[in-house]
Amino acid sequence: MQKQRLFIVSNRLPVSILEEGGSLKVLPSSGGLVTAVNSFVAMSGNAYKDISWVGVPGCSPASWMEASRQLPQTAFRYVPVMVFKEQYDHYYNGFANSTLWPLCHYFPSYAEYSEEDYLDYLQVNEHFAETLEQSCVAGDIVWIHDYHLLPLAARLRRSIPGLTIGFFLHIPFPSYELFRLMPRNWQQHLLEGMLGADLVGFHTMDYAAHFLQSVQMVLGLNHDRNIIRQKDRLVKVDVFPISIDYNKFSQAYDDIEVSTMRQKLQVQLQGRKLLFSVDRLDYSKGVHHRLKAYECFLKQYPEYRGKVVFVIVVVPSRDGIAKYAERKRMIDELISNINSQVGDITWQPVIYQYNALAFAEMVGLYTACDVALITPLRDGMNLVAKEFVASRADKRGVLVLSEMAGAARELSDALLINPNDTRELAGKIKEALEMDAEEQALRMVQMRSRIAHYTVKDWAEDFMSELQQIKVRQEQYQEL
Ligand code: G6P
Repeated sequence: MQKQRLFIVSNRLPVSILEEGGSLKVLPSSGGLVTAVNSFVAMSGNAYKDISWVGVPGCSPASWMEASRQLPQTAFRYVPVMVFKEQYDHYYNGFANSTLWPLCHYFPSYAEYSEEDYLDYLQVNEHFAETLEQSCVAGDIVWIHDYHLLPLAARLRRSIPGLTIGFFLHIPFPSYELFRLMPRNWQQHLLEGMLGADLVGFHTMDYAAHFLQSVQMVLGLNHDRNIIRQKDRLVKVDVFPISIDYNKFSQAYDDIEVSTMRQKLQVQLQGRKLLFSVDRLDYSKGVHHRLKAYECFLKQYPEYRGKVVFVIVVVPSRDGIAKYAERKRMIDELISNINSQVGDITWQPVIYQYNALAFAEMVGLYTACDVALITPLRDGMNLVAKEFVASRADKRGVLVLSEMAGAARELSDALLINPNDTRELAGKIKEALEMDAEEQALRMVQMRSRIAHYTVKDWAEDFMSELQQIKVRQEQYQEL
């Protein structure tokens, strides 16, 4: 079979350009989407004729021209989509992150319904379509990612019907009762947008079922074993739980930088137990609830005072949105209260970093900690949970995981908790700290084997192979 060209499309490119005091900084972008798709591209060798990654660089065209000289060598070509700042603000801070994000993460009271934001969201999707139209032709594959780009598949389908288009949603698709809170014409347009793809993928069965229900309620379209017949086309809906590059994490245990970091931490801890968490700044991640539970743990089990330290890393994100800035203030305040009220001169219960971690620092922490606390209030998947498990080549450490994370479906050997239940979480912290080595190993082995058997490569290959299959079925269907 002839190799095809692949266009990956996401809001963000895998690098972000920061304009700072007259100079430009090229930084790796953060978040699950970029991490996973980057690993897939790095692994896909020469399976495609060529690969392009289309997204917004977050800077002016002139800065992009200058920054593109410093970009890391990659297996793909960068295709920037240039958007005016104000329009981008309405699209990204507005509709994507103040309407869709809170609705999809079950925070309906945080959702705003601004017509201006919605129209600019459509306009930015139009810019994506126009950029793609300059390079794409029938026969190419376009793989669209995430909630920023819900209308794009249908828009592209209209101008280039012969494209093979896949769409993957990296966040939860909410129950119809939440989706329907948006104005009816928005609901219709967004769902029709997604159905412009040949294959629509989600992390879990629940998200796929919610989507199918919304399609039925809003568009009146039924499905037959996850296949929707829309006019002359077939659209398949299926589940692909995203994963990580297992070997990269599993083999990092003995890396010199990782071991050095681990040893440094062990010296600093002076025999204390280590709890660890890392998240992007986001109200959906439950950082505040987690800290409350830690405080409750220290009050309920005072024998642990002075014997445990919680290293909490929060990666800056979306701080142009009031709800995020507010969350940051709440976290800062709570940490300072815990340290000043529960800690003392000789012991600081929480060590806090508001910044991204380099790979070796991150794996150093994953492998030095006794317990990883991954307790989102809602999360599409959560790759940190998988990275932690993959990093524990020593089969030690305990994962405390929220049942509200997509990852809980696969990692049922973690200690599962409801993040709203402060007492339960406090109790599980104790249970995790007291778990014997044998049980830790038993649970770790089960979880590691699951992740090792379905890596990000399998995720992407499954998606791509199903995309090809549905395309073939669709062609047969159209010939009838
Ligand atoms: C989540 C989303 C991604 C997004 C990432 C980081 O993982 O699913 O689409 O890129 O968060 O968020 P940001 O707003 O910084 O791109």
